[in-house]
Amino acid sequence: MNVLVIGGGGREHALVWKLSKSPLVTKLYCAPGNGGIAQIAECCSLNADDCAGLLKFAKEKKIQFVVVGPEVPLTKGIVDLFIENNIPAIGPSRVAAQLEGSKIFAKDIMKKAGVSTGFYETFTTSKDALKYLEGKTLPIVVKADGLAAGKGVTVAATIAEAEEAVKLILDDKIFGSAGNQLIIEEFLAGEEASMFALTDGTNVLPLVSSQDHKRAFDGDTGPNTGGMGAYSPAPVVTPQLEKEVTETIFKPIIKTMKEQGMPFKGILYAGLMIQNGKAKVLEFNVRFGDPEAQVLLPRLKTGLMEIFIALYEERLDKIRLEWTSEAAVTVVLASGGYPGKYEKSKIIHGLDLFKTDETAILFHAGTKQSNGVYSTDGGRVLNVTALGKDIKTAQENAYKAVKKIHFDKMHYRRDIADKALKRTMKEV
Ligand code: AMP
Ligand code: GLY
Repeated sequence: MNVLVIGGGGREHALVWKLSKSPLVTKLYCAPGNGGIAQIAECCSLNADDCAGLLKFAKEKKIQFVVVGPEVPLTKGIVDLFIENNIPAIGPSRVAAQLEGSKIFAKDIMKKAGVSTGFYETFTTSKDALKYLEGKTLPIVVKADGLAAGKGVTVAATIAEAEEAVKLILDDKIFGSAGNQLIIEEFLAGEEASMFALTDGTNVLPLVSSQDHKRAFDGDTGPNTGGMGAYSPAPVVTPQLEKEVTETIFKPIIKTMKEQGMPFKGILYAGLMIQNGKAKVLEFNVRFGDPEAQVLLPRLKTGLMEIFIALYEERLDKIRLEWTSEAAVTVVLASGGYPGKYEKSKIIHGLDLFKTDETAILFHAGTKQSNGVYSTDGGRVLNVTALGKDIKTAQENAYKAVKKIHFDKMHYRRDIADKALKRTMKEV
């Protein structure tokens, strides 16, 4: 089978890496890919959201199956487009992708499905929103309705900060039409975790747990990023909680989407806030997380292509997911300045040392290759991933491997997975 993976980050490298192991896959393509992906797939320079260009490319290359990594093409309807053209594709339709593309849509579905989430109100004018904020308990959360590249959420510690966010979204339109509406949501305290499920519109297959690290610096300080590292499993998600999330979040959402005539097929990602062993939904995403995919896929023993075909053919009830009992940790190596302004084209040293390393897997995120030399090409540059018999060993293996790599102004968090270790120690 000729398979096209859409996207060009660490998540897509992990997807391509896992698919490359499948006997069902004859040739892999990736658009746009990156320096690392180019080692195992043929990359083309089309952007991930150039739907028409990608369809043309897929027809030329006789692509037989498409896997979509990022959210933007999904919310633009890329899966509908491929399927209309008889090319099977994995991911939700345009309408179902609104679970991520519109916070208000997601809240409405949660309400219909009886899923636990923060209390909220919707606003279209700053006058009404500002009036609502008067005398509210702090902190309070302001969210642009649409996609804002992860920057649409403000957790405001003061009313002034919340007012500023409202004005920037509704009056100054800093997120364009993604900010035509916003929600103001109650602040939820607790520990965050993500859970993922594969679904064919009816059947729900939950994946093992994982946890991202969204803040830039150690101790969860500094600005929000796309994610600075992850580990799996996440002890905060107990087996009991995992069951509850499946029964009280994933299944009701999937049932409701089907009843509403918008069956959801693909990967559903629930961002959760956990307090006293109970989960509330912060957000839904309609794809694998990045960097969560980089710890989930190395733990998956079942063939990914088989799973995707079963999902597409709506027979996920016939699939049993098998996982290694080993834990996984991934550390994101970022460009100096990220998530703010950063420079590109810094030469990356030490990549050769990975060729013989059995314990670590290197996923490229923002890299490019020219004449055999790899250089930085994005904010998140590399994901150093390692397995180990437990989280502590996986963490040690990952940080040992990190030491091999260097580029000018490289920065990374030194505490990825510490939270899991602290929790496990408390329980012992
Ligand atoms: P979202 O895109 O909705 O997941 O929001 C991004 C981040 O903002 C989350 O990962 C949380 O850290 C934080 N956040 C969002 N909503 C809330 C909330 N209601 N209470 C506390 N923190 C929140
Ligand atoms: N890890 C966060 C995200 O993929 O959105």
